[in-house]
Amino acid sequence: MNSSEKLQAVDLNSLRVIHYPDPRLKVVCTEVAYEDISETLRNLAFRMTELMFASRGVGLAAPQVGVTIRMFISSPEFQPEDCHVYINPKILALDGSEICEEGCLSFPQIYCKVKRAKTVTVQAMNLEGEMFTETATDLAARIIQHENDHLNGMLLSDRMSTVAKLANRKTLHELEAEFAAAK
Ligand code: CO
Repeated sequence: MNSSEKLQAVDLNSLRVIHYPDPRLKVVCTEVAYEDISETLRNLAFRMTELMFASRGVGLAAPQVGVTIRMFISSPEFQPEDCHVYINPKILALDGSEICEEGCLSFPQIYCKVKRAKTVTVQAMNLEGEMFTETATDLAARIIQHENDHLNGMLLSDRMSTVAKLANRKTLHELEAEFAAAK
């Protein structure tokens, strides 16, 4: 399916944040066609910000609401007036490294240390279809790298150390059981 077909299939009222191990989280997402940067996409982005703030998250990628297109949102300050949208992001540069505790709305109750670049330069499009380039550091850079991973089907569980996986084994198994029971 291309981005138009994926957007047409979206039912905004039934959108919710999906959890590991839903297979939609492992998909390499589709580029958003320029003509799809429209009202439908803006409505989806708006609904995603509502879901993100309601779940107390600082970032959310479209595949986390089951829409496997290359878009994510972030709000490092956790402020609705400071919410950024990235469409078809490309990471242009990564610099430095930092290990910090990270969580993910698709992995409730799990926090683990992940090594990321300290500074990232990203190029993306906004909801007006304008290209922009941004250099971010610390938490803002971490969110961009985490959400960009989602667009490639790369999850927190794939970034966890063996030790972190063992420490979170019980919670991961509970999420797997919940998913199996909901099917
Ligand atoms: Co996440």
